Amino acid sequence: MAGGVVVQTVGGKTYPGRMTAFVFFTCLVASSGGLIFGYDIGISGGVTSMDSFLREFFPSVYAKAKANKDMNQYCKFDSQLLTLFTSSLYLSALTTSFVAAWVTRVFGRKWSMFCGGITFLAGSALNGAATDVMMLILGRILLGVGVGFANQSVPLYLSEMAPANLRGMLNIGFQLMTTIGILSANLINYATSSIEGGWGWRIGLGLAGVPALIITLGALMLPDTPNSLIARGYAGDAKRVLVKIRGTDDVHDEYEDMIAASEEASAIEHPWRNILARKYRPQLTVAVLIPFFQQLTGINVIMFYAPVLFLTIGFAGDASLMSAVITGVVNMAATVVSIVTVDRLGRRALFLQGGTQMFISQVVVGTLIGLQFGTTGVGEMSRSYAILLVLFICLYVAGFAWSWGPLGWLVPSEVFSLEIRSAGQSIAVCVNMLLTFLIGQAFLTMLCHLKFGLFYFFAAWMVVMTSFVALFLPETKGVPIEEMNLVWSRHWFWRNYVTIHDVAGANRRSHEV
Ligand code: BGC
Repeated sequence: MAGGVVVQTVGGKTYPGRMTAFVFFTCLVASSGGLIFGYDIGISGGVTSMDSFLREFFPSVYAKAKANKDMNQYCKFDSQLLTLFTSSLYLSALTTSFVAAWVTRVFGRKWSMFCGGITFLAGSALNGAATDVMMLILGRILLGVGVGFANQSVPLYLSEMAPANLRGMLNIGFQLMTTIGILSANLINYATSSIEGGWGWRIGLGLAGVPALIITLGALMLPDTPNSLIARGYAGDAKRVLVKIRGTDDVHDEYEDMIAASEEASAIEHPWRNILARKYRPQLTVAVLIPFFQQLTGINVIMFYAPVLFLTIGFAGDASLMSAVITGVVNMAATVVSIVTVDRLGRRALFLQGGTQMFISQVVVGTLIGLQFGTTGVGEMSRSYAILLVLFICLYVAGFAWSWGPLGWLVPSEVFSLEIRSAGQSIAVCVNMLLTFLIGQAFLTMLCHLKFGLFYFFAAWMVVMTSFVALFLPETKGVPIEEMNLVWSRHWFWRNYVTIHDVAGANRRSHEV
């Protein structure tokens, strides 16, 4: 598989690179953590565009949305309380990611995933049974705790389990599951919105329990990663797991890498303080900027508010949920493109191509909406015009789905040295959730004020992030995870921060040979 590479040689050392059934299944089960993340992203946009849901919990928004058709289309859903329902989850996820960093480091990746599943289960029960706004928001907060644990542990788990030459593919399983979660949520919204009696949203919110159950039970069955087992003093178990996931006894070099990385790691008492050291500057930069940029692509404007956005630009209720389903399908299908190409073309090629495609689509979408609604926000759209708009939104989503979507989680999870890996990942989760929260919270207001210019705002960010990748992000394709420091020490800019003396003992030896 993946070009039939069975053994990879890096710096004179050999790394088995076969896709074994065992590594495939463990990664498949762990990826299901993405389902809970995705389901949440998809479900809230749909329920908040359902009349019955709005009438029950947000009557003033409901009244405003029903008001005269020729009111300002950009502003009809602008409500802080409504956006708080969507974005409270992200606030709780970002707080949780710090606790999750500790659980992930001290108890292992496996138990962090388990914690995620359990709290998520509780949150979905509370949401499905909600009778007032407080119960709804409390439920969302518990879901956020679940997402905080899962997004902290799953990407790390996948990157540590995978052989280096298949790491991109296996890690992106997480993003694929995220998109499946979003799509299922969109479909469930579509199906339940027409249930008579207007309680369909309860099914949507309650069904979040299904992906939660999958990851909870899944986590109980999974072994922990060899890297985490060694770091926690179980070297014997680590070797057994490594032999099993690689499908060969010949794991000597990779095992030695892990032992060396663990020795480095055990000399470090404060991963949080340590991550600020000069030699970790490139890793810290990636931990902060990659998720920051991922959210500034503006993707969650589409993911959270697709139905509301489509309603805003004049589709009828059903048609707007259907359009959200279409973007969901595109999102999932295009993720497969990156699974197939990421370990061949590399991360940079996908970032650069996807970024350019997203930039062009954003400009076109902004222009199309601007031409129709101008700055007053009053107008109607013909059918063919609306189809053109949906088409460009789909091109934008596709570009995201094979670049910033998966790579926004893959790249941070693979660049940290073992001693700062849990801390680094929680910074990445935290920044991602913070920006998701801010954009979720600000979007409807921004749409109301910036109008179609909002799309140009995100397009401008696309230029910034694509230039960042071009200049500052080295290629990490195929590099064994505990050898990653070498990449920085060879980069034209980062070599000023990471010298060869900073590279871990085992790596240094191989470099000098
Ligand atoms: C992002 C989410 C986004 C999703 C869309 C993820 O990688 O972190 O914020 O909603 O992709 O597929």
